[in-house]
Amino acid sequence: MRYHVLTLFPEMILDGLNTSIIGRAMNKGLIELNAINIRDFSTNKHMKVDDYPYGGGAGMVMQAEPVYLSYKSVADDIISRTGKKPRVVYLTPQGKVFNQRMAEEFAKEEDLIFLCGHYEGIDERALELIVTDNVSIGDYVLTGGELPAMVMIDTISRLVKGVLNNDDSAKYESFADNRLEYPQYTRPEEFMGMKVPKVLLSGDHKKVEQWREEESLKRTKERRPDLL
Ligand code: ADE
Repeated sequence: MRYHVLTLFPEMILDGLNTSIIGRAMNKGLIELNAINIRDFSTNKHMKVDDYPYGGGAGMVMQAEPVYLSYKSVADDIISRTGKKPRVVYLTPQGKVFNQRMAEEFAKEEDLIFLCGHYEGIDERALELIVTDNVSIGDYVLTGGELPAMVMIDTISRLVKGVLNNDDSAKYESFADNRLEYPQYTRPEEFMGMKVPKVLLSGDHKKVEQWREEESLKRTKERRPDLL
């Protein structure tokens, strides 16, 4: 999986994703992360990338040209390498709300381009030309698309083969079956007077599995009845 992030803050993307499981996956070559600075494609002598909105109103709008050129700089390579146009995800509160199903779909791609906006957004003409998917990470507004892109990259990467140590961990977790995960315990057997449920110490795998299924359902009913 190769991610290409078009952004005004490449260091935010690179610094944010180079630790823990995702950092290790990059070191192992399982995923590749390429952050492209949109400002490098400004044709303005002051390297400006934004301007006032036509029609007036608050804030600044990112101009079409540097966004389009930054896209071309990666898309042309991808097209000559794979023979097909990559999906381009624009992070926006106006998009479809991201979930595990969408992550599974995106995980099938070889290359993904993420476009991060700032200020009051991006000139609609650049979006019309390049964006294939408008995605939001929830009904609230962030200052830019970088954190949402990182959320998506983290979620998609753990579905890429080899990224998690154990293939099973991705299968038996929250949302895998539209259910929340069961509670987990580790040593010691007693902590501040609280004991680990007996069934987990029984060694009876069938009973453990049954208990986990029940807990999973109970938790989903209590916390996320909308999933059922
Ligand atoms: N940019 C600003 N807010 C956003 C959100 N909720 N999801 C995706 N991109 C965004």
